[in-house]
Amino acid sequence: MNTTHSLTHVVTGAFGYSGQYITRRLLDRGVQVRSLTGHPRRFDPFDGNVLSYPYSFDSPAQLTRNLEGADTLFNTYWIRFARGELTHEIAAENLRILFDSAKKAGVRRIVHVSITNAELNSTLPYFREKAIVEDVLKQSGMSYAILRPTVIFGDEDILVNNIAWFLRKFPVYPIFGSGKYRIQPIFVEDFADLAVELGAKDENIEIDAVGPDIFTYEDMVRLIGSKIGSSNWIVHVNSALAMFSSKIAGLILRDVVLTGDEIEALMKDLLVSKSQGIPSATTRLKDWLDKSASSLGVSYTSELKRHYR
Ligand SMILES: NC(=O)c1ccc[n+]([C@@H]2O[C@H](COP(=O)([O-])OP(=O)(O)OC[C@H]3O[C@@H](n4cnc5c(N)ncnc54)[C@H](OP(=O)(O)O)[C@@H]3O)[C@@H](O)[C@H]2O)c1
Repeated sequence: MNTTHSLTHVVTGAFGYSGQYITRRLLDRGVQVRSLTGHPRRFDPFDGNVLSYPYSFDSPAQLTRNLEGADTLFNTYWIRFARGELTHEIAAENLRILFDSAKKAGVRRIVHVSITNAELNSTLPYFREKAIVEDVLKQSGMSYAILRPTVIFGDEDILVNNIAWFLRKFPVYPIFGSGKYRIQPIFVEDFADLAVELGAKDENIEIDAVGPDIFTYEDMVRLIGSKIGSSNWIVHVNSALAMFSSKIAGLILRDVVLTGDEIEALMKDLLVSKSQGIPSATTRLKDWLDKSASSLGVSYTSELKRHYR
């Protein structure tokens, strides 16, 4: 018997990247899904089966109404970098409002997506505010699961795709610093499996959502290059020059390619699990690349186009 049949869950960003994979799994289990999103009229891959509502953080009562009757809230909402008035501090405050609204609406559990090595004392707003949000959730009195991924690779991913795009487009690929800092990516399908599995539990859980391989950044770039058939000249540059190149590329592409904070986070080894690397997922990047190499990086994926236009 399918005991989940009558349940409704809410997924933030159900038409976005990881939220789309979580939603697909829930629908396949016969669960009703609602979404909160910044783009309610975006192309709907679920043929009208997911009702969507705007985030309405400025109207908590509305947010509460839109969450009423839901069993679990899967939260993917976050911003990659501050832009205009939307800073990480405001995104964190938005999540405090969202969690509070979920509690008032009687939501049973929150599955929240954070980041590896979120840290209250971090100088990087992304990591610091993620840690603050984790604390807000832990103190909310609600049942929760916190998933901390590093980079999530998959068809709609930005980072791995755009590394491949640069490798395809230019003969030289600049790597900031030694390139020896590490990264432990997780496959989006594995990530969604984990999120849905943890949603069905009651106990409070915190887990690094990481894949089976730890790469140095340079080795990951070289692996991507070898799988797409590029033989670039990899040069090491200091982070100031990397930042300058990234800004120029951003101006040409009308995007933010990589921020200084993202470069710093990578170089500080923050995108690898410190919990002795017990992987929570099994799909290997190299196996996924074998299947995806022909389409990977053929087009550039723009963060600004995805979220700001
Ligand atoms: N992707 C990765 O490699 C990665 C790595 C580590 C951690 N994470 C974490 O995993 C979670 C999900 O990531 P994702 O890549 O799957 O996210 P996503 O689908 O691109 O976005 C998730 C949600 O956040 C909203 N959002 C994103 N950027 C926004 C912005 N600038 N302004 C307003 N709303 C914005 C989206 O709005 P719409 O509904 O309007 O699209 C969506 O509802 C995030 O919490 C992220 O921090 C992701």
